[in-house]
Amino acid sequence: MIFNCLKDVKVQPKARIIGLGSYVPENVLSNKDLEKIVDTTDEWIVSRTGMKERRIAGENEFTSDMGYEAAKKALEAAKVSPESIDLILFATHTPDYVFPSTACLIQSRLGARRAAAVDLQAACTGYIYAVSMAKAYIESGMYQNILVVASEKVSTIVDYEDRNTCVLFGDGASACVISGQGKGLLINQAVLGSDGDQAKLLVLPAGGAKKPASSETVQAKEHYLRMEGKEVFKHAVRRMEEAVKSCLERSGLSQESISWLVPHQANIRIIDYLAKRFKVPNERVFLTIHKYGNTSSSSVGIAIDELLREKDVKNGEHIVLFAFGAGLTFGAITLTLEDSH
Ligand SMILES: CC(C)(COP(=O)(O)OP(=O)(O)OC[C@H]1O[C@@H](n2cnc3c(N)ncnc32)[C@H](O)[C@@H]1OP(=O)(O)O)[C@@H](O)C(=O)NCCC(=O)NCCS
Repeated sequence: MIFNCLKDVKVQPKARIIGLGSYVPENVLSNKDLEKIVDTTDEWIVSRTGMKERRIAGENEFTSDMGYEAAKKALEAAKVSPESIDLILFATHTPDYVFPSTACLIQSRLGARRAAAVDLQAACTGYIYAVSMAKAYIESGMYQNILVVASEKVSTIVDYEDRNTCVLFGDGASACVISGQGKGLLINQAVLGSDGDQAKLLVLPAGGAKKPASSETVQAKEHYLRMEGKEVFKHAVRRMEEAVKSCLERSGLSQESISWLVPHQANIRIIDYLAKRFKVPNERVFLTIHKYGNTSSSSVGIAIDELLREKDVKNGEHIVLFAFGAGLTFGAITLTLEDSH
């Protein structure tokens, strides 16, 4: 009898990232290019943000196309066929359409016939939200293999006459396969948060049900993002600090045990402050901000993909991912490399 009961006890699967991929468009928009468009200078942009250039998707290259490219690479790296994917979580706030979801568009293109598919909107924290939801689905036993994609064509919602915002953003995509089987990056803990009281600080005013597109909204430039940069900056620092602290605590990790910091690439001054706060030396903070700018939800996914390809990350090392975005949303994830990629 007892033996029978024990036989029924299932070991809870652990979620791991078993393959990563990313994609950035070819077209480069440098600070020098921006100097010709708005009243700005390379010196101002570099000193205030850390950005030197960013990538801009082609006219006929959309969020689903970039997401597809990143997803293909992640599936190849994971050695998982599209037919083995149970769920596609697609993080974006610049979807190809309001509906159908971008997740469904790439489900068809990849041939992921068995997969459920859904878009997820958490602005720049989208990758962190999607990875943590994938972890929960896998560890509950509901799904075996999940494809997370984060892709943004932010250039479509940026006003290239507004120097306050147009220098900050770029286009790009990242993806990963999360599974209950195989080796890779163990997802230890994830912490998510939101603060809707501050929703007005970063907003795309029109195009939703509250303000449908009209000639008035187009004239008023309400289809471009608006941001109160200084206020966003303050909240970003505080909220990401809290998220990282709380995630480390839940993971049972000290700040000394952080091997690599992979921050959302929004502003070098925010990143530098947080690296100092957690006493992580510069060479252990992975940056792509100088070459891609802020690619919104895809930024931490691009950074961790490049980190693992470019740096000598060793088995057992702990990586902390964290992000912040419109909503406000924020979150952090701790990962441990278990097997070399
Ligand atoms: C946007 C940001 C770089 C601006 O830096 P800042 O130091 O706060 O600069 P301010 O907004 O105070 O602007 C200072 C001056 O620079 C000017 N300025 C703004 N953008 C400029 C540009 N691209 N080039 C030159 N000058 C610029 C402003 O007009 C202002 O001029 P004024 O003093 O004459 O009014 C910074 O606030 C930031 O990064 N915020 C967080 C943004 C973020 O992370 N967003 C994404 C969240 S996911």
